[in-house]
Amino acid sequence: MTLAGKRVLLIVTGGIAAFKALELIRLLRKSGCAVTCVLTKGGAQFVTPLSLQALSEHHVYTDLFSLTDESEMGHIQLSRSADLVVVAPASADILAKMAAGLADDLASTLLLATDKRVLVAPAMNVRMWSHPATTANMATLAARGVAVIGPDEGAMACNEFGAGRLSEPPAILAAIEALLAGPKPLAGRHALVTSGPTHEPIDPVRYIANRSSGKQGHAIAAALAGLGARVTLVSGPVALPDPAGVTVVRIETAAQMLAACQAALPADIAVFAAAVADWRMAHATDRKMKKTPGGAPPALELTPNPDILATIAAPGPGRPGLVVGFAAETHDLRHHAEDKRRRKGADWIIANDVNPATGIMGGTENQIHLVSAAGIEDWPRLAKDDVAARLAIRIADALQ
Ligand code: C5P
Repeated sequence: MTLAGKRVLLIVTGGIAAFKALELIRLLRKSGCAVTCVLTKGGAQFVTPLSLQALSEHHVYTDLFSLTDESEMGHIQLSRSADLVVVAPASADILAKMAAGLADDLASTLLLATDKRVLVAPAMNVRMWSHPATTANMATLAARGVAVIGPDEGAMACNEFGAGRLSEPPAILAAIEALLAGPKPLAGRHALVTSGPTHEPIDPVRYIANRSSGKQGHAIAAALAGLGARVTLVSGPVALPDPAGVTVVRIETAAQMLAACQAALPADIAVFAAAVADWRMAHATDRKMKKTPGGAPPALELTPNPDILATIAAPGPGRPGLVVGFAAETHDLRHHAEDKRRRKGADWIIANDVNPATGIMGGTENQIHLVSAAGIEDWPRLAKDDVAARLAIRIADALQ
């Protein structure tokens, strides 16, 4: 998601984690967000105004009674010209001041004067975090509608272990994005996504399968849901948690996957990321196949599975508005992908190279080529989550 045109007022308070504010500013600027920083006295013990200024490309405010700062922008205006006020890291002290309504420095005065949403990212020693005073302060802030991210659990700078670490900057960025999100572009749309492998039984205990992990399909389902779509995820057997806010239909075989997809229609969007077995047993047995000492191994007679993508992409009144297929290839990627797009009737094909050397099959990264009637787009190698996020935005744009 882009934060272009949005303005964040970032208050950096004291704590060893203040250095992470620098990375947060960098991420915010990268997504197009304007950032104005306020640095408390405690914060200035850990990071310098100059670092914040260099990264935010904006004057840094440090002192309530600075005549220069006051003449440039009154503190009340400072908090009102932002879309969101973020306190990261938020020390036990600033949280206590916020809860009590104190206003004895620029940061606490701004927090008392603001009419904007406030997000706090606490960071402190585990005992300070678990102290009843901090617990009570957090309850007060939550009741007033202050949003909270973290803290995380882990090893602390003070050689202790527990809750109190500042959330990582990408997680804080995601929380900021969620708070600043406008109307979701896929609200009111239904997306059907297939994911994972299929298992085709040979007998009651054996089956034909493949190495698909379902990571890419599940990430796409989550990304589409994140943009507001109602998502039905038809998934083969995978070792992944269900994505939040998605309806998951679990199947095993290609025939079950086709039936589940047809039952989920109508859909505005259909993304077929599953690695469906091309063949199943012509005659799967009800009883376990027995080996006989010295006997010949059985010949497995196979029969083709239905092509789910081609079936759902076929022209007709129930066809989803945008049908996206995948092409996992080990050679002649572009040629096979373009051919597959036409043969199966998909609008787009997402082609990827599954040569074992690429580490893509089962890995966390993917490098794709988006094949459409307009041509082929080569995307950089990205985390599967990032491929999904980018693809979801492209899908939303295409449906505008
Ligand atoms: O023909 P191939 O398996 O390479 O095609 C890949 C694309 O077709 C993927 O989008 C996959 O989900 C879909 N597919 C399908 N049903 C099949 C085989 C593939 O939906 N039986």
